[in-house]
Amino acid sequence: MTVALQIDGLFKRFGEQQVLNGFSLQVARGDVVGLLGPNGCGKSTVLNIICQLLQADAGQVQLMGRPMIQHSAHARTCIGYCPQQSALYPDLFPQENIQFFARLYGVPAAQRNARVAELIERFGLVPYAATRAGLLSGGWHQRLSLAVALVHRPELLVLDEPTVAVDVEARMDLWRLIEGLRDSGTTILLTSHHLAEAQRLCNRVALMRNGKVAAEGSVPELISRVPGQAVVKVQSVDKQAVMHRALELGWPVRQHAGEISLLLPHHLSFREIVDALEGSKVSAVSVDPVTLEDAYLELVGDSYDLTPIL
Ligand SMILES: Nc1ncnc2c1ncn2[C@@H]1O[C@H](COP(=O)(O)OP(=O)(O)OP(=O)(O)O)[C@@H](O)[C@H]1O
Ligand SMILES: [Mg+2]
Repeated sequence: MTVALQIDGLFKRFGEQQVLNGFSLQVARGDVVGLLGPNGCGKSTVLNIICQLLQADAGQVQLMGRPMIQHSAHARTCIGYCPQQSALYPDLFPQENIQFFARLYGVPAAQRNARVAELIERFGLVPYAATRAGLLSGGWHQRLSLAVALVHRPELLVLDEPTVAVDVEARMDLWRLIEGLRDSGTTILLTSHHLAEAQRLCNRVALMRNGKVAAEGSVPELISRVPGQAVVKVQSVDKQAVMHRALELGWPVRQHAGEISLLLPHHLSFREIVDALEGSKVSAVSVDPVTLEDAYLELVGDSYDLTPIL
C-alpha cells in the first residue's frame, strides 16, 4: 500500500475552543476516504490544514511521502480542493473560472486552453458557457467547482461536502463523476453528512468526534461494529412494553431522536420478529439491513443505549 496522505496528531485551537485534539488519519493512494462527523466537529478545519489554508498548532502532515512545509508549492500542485464555501468567482463564466485557477495552480500557458476545453466538455458545461458562475444552479455550480479543482491534474482530491444543497438527480450526477475519478485512480478525501453517499462512494470511512477520529475502517467493518444483524423499527402506543419485550429477548435497544430501534442479534424471518413482539401493542414493524447510518449513530451519534437502564 502506498500512502498518499499521512496525518499525525493534529491539534488546533480557536480561542478557547480546542477543535482538533490529536487528529490522525492515513489515506492510501487510490482510496476514497470519507470523513464524517457532527456539525462543528472539525472536518473542514482538517481539510483546510491539509490544503495549507490554516496552520495546525501541532502535528504533522505528510503528502505523497514528503513532510508538508508551510507555503511550499508541493501541496498546491498535489492537491485539488473543493471548499465547503464556493471559491468560484460569481461574475466569471465557467471557462474563465477554470482559466483563472489554471493560472493560479501553475498550469503551463501552452496547456491551459486545451485543459479548460477538456474540462468544460467532460463536465457537460458546454450549454452553460455563457452563464456566469453566480447564476448556475446548485448542481452545475458544484460540477464547475469539481472541474476547477481538477485543472492541474492533482493526485489527491479534497472535497468538502461536494453534494450539499443539490437536488437528487444532480447529486446522482455528481456521484457518477466522483466514481469516474475514483475508477481512474484519483485519491479522494471527502466530507459529507449524507451517509448513503459515503456508503456508496467511499472504500474507507473515518468517523470523527471530539477533535479526533473515533472509528475508522471500510464500510462493512464499521457496520460490523453495530451489535446486530438487522435493525427493527417498531411503532407502538406502548414503547415501554416494546423495550421490555426486547430486553427479554436479548435484543439491544437504541434511541435516536426519540425513535426506538431494536438490534436483531441473529437472523429471524419477518413472521418470527412479529411473533416475538406479540403482546407489546405493535402497530407497524420494519426490518432493514444495518447501514453506515446505523454505524454512525452507534459510534459517534448522540444515541442512547437503553439496554442497561431497562
Ligand atoms: N477561523 C475560525 N475561527 C474561529 N472558530 C472557527 C474557525 N473555523 C472554524 N471554527 C470553529 O471550529 C469548529 C469546527 O469547525 P469546522 O468548520 O471545522 O467544523 P465541520 O466539522 O466542518 O462542521 P460542518 O459539518 O458544519 O461543516 C466550529 O465550532 C467552528 O465554529
Ligand atoms: Mg465543514
